[in-house]
Amino acid sequence: MQPKTSKLNLQNLINYPFEKILVLSKTTSTNAVAKELFNNGVKSAVVVSESQTAGKGRLNRTFFSPKGKGVYLSVLLCPSISILNAPLITGFCGVQVANAIEKLSGAKTFLKWVNDLFINGKKVGGILTESGINASTKTLDYVIVGIGVNVYDCNYPEFIKDIATNIEKESGVKVDKTRLIAEIINGLLGLESAVESKDFLAEYKERQIILNKQVKVVLSNEEFYATAVDVDESGALIVIKDGVKRSVTVGDVSVRF
Ligand code: BTN
Repeated sequence: MQPKTSKLNLQNLINYPFEKILVLSKTTSTNAVAKELFNNGVKSAVVVSESQTAGKGRLNRTFFSPKGKGVYLSVLLCPSISILNAPLITGFCGVQVANAIEKLSGAKTFLKWVNDLFINGKKVGGILTESGINASTKTLDYVIVGIGVNVYDCNYPEFIKDIATNIEKESGVKVDKTRLIAEIINGLLGLESAVESKDFLAEYKERQIILNKQVKVVLSNEEFYATAVDVDESGALIVIKDGVKRSVTVGDVSVRF
């Protein structure tokens, strides 16, 4: 059994005075706990849990969160970000998580627009960003970045067993979860300026596994095959279908390896 995340160690490793740091042994979803904190007036928080009973992914998917096997982390921040730049948040965070995994394990980590983390062609984690909008200022009220990373080897349930992997399996390294969490959080601290400058976009694109590949695009009302060619300054995925460029802002893309 790997050591549990230690609140004290985490506090010492994080470069920001968060109002609240919660390290739980079990919860429904760390994103839900972070939202509750915001509703109670908290403006910055870190919520970590050893397991989740209702871990959420994008598009109403569940995120398998077995006890002690992964990082289940939500970071609540109230940065000053225009709603126009909100779609860039997940991409920036993806780059930070990929860097943190690589730093501690040495495993080359890739991204799949918009929120998936991949190692050796399999999903090692994902990001679920939730935010609230201030309609009068057209800025965000709060951002909750929910990050799930499969860290230690385990048996996956049938519905993900062919697509999921973990850091230990791919790198042979049993990374220290507390250090990984701290690396991720410290990386996220540059969020406000990064989405403003869009500096991270070059690295976001470099790490993409889908660019210049044939992908299946699934939107709420249609599905089609196209070639993924770029991610633009607004965070949208640019695809070419039958010679015509299309911009994908919501939806899912998959690629066959
Ligand atoms: C995805 O794969 O679509 C995103 C997965 C995000 C999972 C993390 S685990 C911590 C946080 N709490 C949740 O309920 N979801 C995110």
